[in-house]
Amino acid sequence: MKITTTIPQLPLIIVFLLLLVPLITLFSLSYQAAESSVSKTRPDNDLIIRPGYATYESYLTRQLQKTLNPKLRQIWATRDWDRKVEVFSLFFLSLQKAHLLFNHSKALCVGARVGQEVAALKRVGVSDSVGIDLVPYPPLVVHGDFHSQPFDDGRFDFEFSNVFDHALFPEKFVGEIERTLKPGGVCVLHVLISKRADKYSANDLFSVKPLIKLFKQSEVVHVKNIDGFGLDTEVVFRKKLKL
Ligand SMILES: *[C@@H]1O[C@H](CO)[C@@H](O)[C@H](O)[C@H]1NC(C)=O
Repeated sequence: MKITTTIPQLPLIIVFLLLLVPLITLFSLSYQAAESSVSKTRPDNDLIIRPGYATYESYLTRQLQKTLNPKLRQIWATRDWDRKVEVFSLFFLSLQKAHLLFNHSKALCVGARVGQEVAALKRVGVSDSVGIDLVPYPPLVVHGDFHSQPFDDGRFDFEFSNVFDHALFPEKFVGEIERTLKPGGVCVLHVLISKRADKYSANDLFSVKPLIKLFKQSEVVHVKNIDGFGLDTEVVFRKKLKL
């Protein structure tokens, strides 16, 4: 009796074990594939648009919340002003020394808030300089959306921005800079790579690779680490003379 009950069970256990081995192998292989596909696609995913903007209007409203925040504006225009203008002046002087910026350059600051960068440009002798932002701050900053700059093609020799993380459409942000730059014009971006930016940011950048890819009409002049008001990386592009 014992024999007849255990014999039919034995092959069952063997069959079960034989099935289990390939199943485990398959599972671990597909797990590895999923892992490696994540790491493989990572370079292309180094620029991530934050979810949660149903419409362009809701995005603009959120951006305006920061730009129009009376407390922030007060700080930008007073307590923050001298220190920022001083630091930006030294930065623009170094660009002049490197022959990336000249007194005769027509210069634009993209997303300039209350225009500290513009004031610094004027201080170091770049008199034909202006900023754009969603909220104007005359006379230094005029109204303009960086996704659709209010300027003709080839207007500027130099553009600076430290608000790339606020772009909901990074390809438009970069496309507009390249459109309004003259051939041979210089674009300097200060970005944050090592950490996540603030709650008003519309994208997160994990390396300079996607940025370089977006500048289709330009060459990279240099990439370097900086300590720039919470931003850690400077990327300088020059628009090609011939496209
Ligand atoms: C640029 O302008 C500044 C400020 O007016 C002046 O000190 C500097 O000498 C000028 N640089 C050149 C190269 O002309």
